[in-house]
Amino acid sequence: MNIAIIGSGYVGLVTGVCLAHIGHRVICVDNDPQKVKKLKKGGIPIYEPGLDVIMRDCVRKKRLSFSGSIKDATQRSTVIFIAVGTPPKSTGDADLVYVENVVRQIAENMDSYRLIVEKSTVPAETGNKIRRTVELNLPRKFRKGNQALLDFDVASNPEFLKEGSAVHDFMNPNRLVFGVESKKAEKVLREIYKPLKAKVLVTNIASAEMIKHASNSFLAMKISFINAVSQICGRVGADVLNVAEGMGLDKRIGRAFLDPGVGYGGSCFPKDVDAFIRLSEKSGYDFRLLKEVRRVNEEQRQAFVHLVEDKLWNLKEKTIGVWGLAFKPNTDDMRNAASVEILQKLQQEGAKIKAYDPRAMANAGEILRGVALCASPYAAAEDCDCLLLLTEWDEFKNVDLEAVRDVMRQPVVFDGRNFLDGEKLKSLGFDYYGIGRGKA
Ligand code: UGA
Repeated sequence: MNIAIIGSGYVGLVTGVCLAHIGHRVICVDNDPQKVKKLKKGGIPIYEPGLDVIMRDCVRKKRLSFSGSIKDATQRSTVIFIAVGTPPKSTGDADLVYVENVVRQIAENMDSYRLIVEKSTVPAETGNKIRRTVELNLPRKFRKGNQALLDFDVASNPEFLKEGSAVHDFMNPNRLVFGVESKKAEKVLREIYKPLKAKVLVTNIASAEMIKHASNSFLAMKISFINAVSQICGRVGADVLNVAEGMGLDKRIGRAFLDPGVGYGGSCFPKDVDAFIRLSEKSGYDFRLLKEVRRVNEEQRQAFVHLVEDKLWNLKEKTIGVWGLAFKPNTDDMRNAASVEILQKLQQEGAKIKAYDPRAMANAGEILRGVALCASPYAAAEDCDCLLLLTEWDEFKNVDLEAVRDVMRQPVVFDGRNFLDGEKLKSLGFDYYGIGRGKA
């Protein structure tokens, strides 16, 4: 099938490359000429494990190409996925101006049936707005007043990929959701995803849009729940990891997304929780539960900073080493990373910061101010009064801890992800503080 993907960010690029990998002819479009130039040369603007290999393979097999032109892509494709950004406005609403722009350009260049698929996370009812925008912007000969004379469909096909394992998630989905208005649209989507042999749920468009909102918000709620539990564990001498394990053994609860830490970040959960709260408000429902999820997340970061202040005493003149800056491991993505807020707060208290991340240094350099970016975990620890682990990269498991202890001014570790072996660190003479692992 001939498919266009409009927007070559994380979601768009992974979707486009993977659809080409399972046999389709795909054009990935972006309005950033530099990005398109880089992609055409075989470069990848993001770090996502495994993506580069299959991307180059698909280009070689002539199943994948890149373009800056929505016109060109619309003319050459039957199915058009919209994967452009929906950044938050100051109100928390998703800003849909990019989506509208793209849909207008698609409509202006349509001359026969097209299936337009929402892939970006959008508020419920966006499907209707997309339909209306197409009807109003088709070429004159294909409309009578505001009525379309050309057959087309709109669908919602939310994505559930996780950064860092996006290629694997695409190839092994636990479900595919098709929000459609016609049998024809359902048939086309089934055809596209046939090679994946996944469970398919067919709904109307609004339900598909809600599934995405509700899923991300529910996962954020699980994280905030265990973070809240970690606060109590820290006070009563319980170990939150044992608690999470005990809870997770109940199949109705499940162990996934019960890892306490410095709060969720990234380009999805914070934005999607805000957008769902706004959507609820607009529909006349005050989603207080979700507001609390957001508040717990903010407090979790503050609590971590307070712990550091409590143990180090004054932060002025103190140097803090940081391991991990990305919002999670296996990505270079710094968007809404917990590290940004935590480091700013520590800097406001007068601390000097040295940091290392295996992949996110370039992006971190653009966001963080006054942070010394170091070439290795050892360099980041050197002459520091404490070390913070903020992202659980595997690399940190293999560091020589004795060497780290010997270069630090004070051997103190605050493990914001409960990732390091606390007992081992203590036996080596470190002061070790995890999240909710008992009385600190
Ligand atoms: C999330 C969802 O998991 C995907 O299903 C969804 O497709 C995606 O958003 C999206 O809407 O595009 P992602 O943001 O890539 O994926 O990353 P997650 O693995 O979900 O992690 C999000 C944040 O939660 C990270 O900061 C992570 O460190 C944190 N987290 C996750 C925890 O603090 N504890 C956990 O137990 C799990």
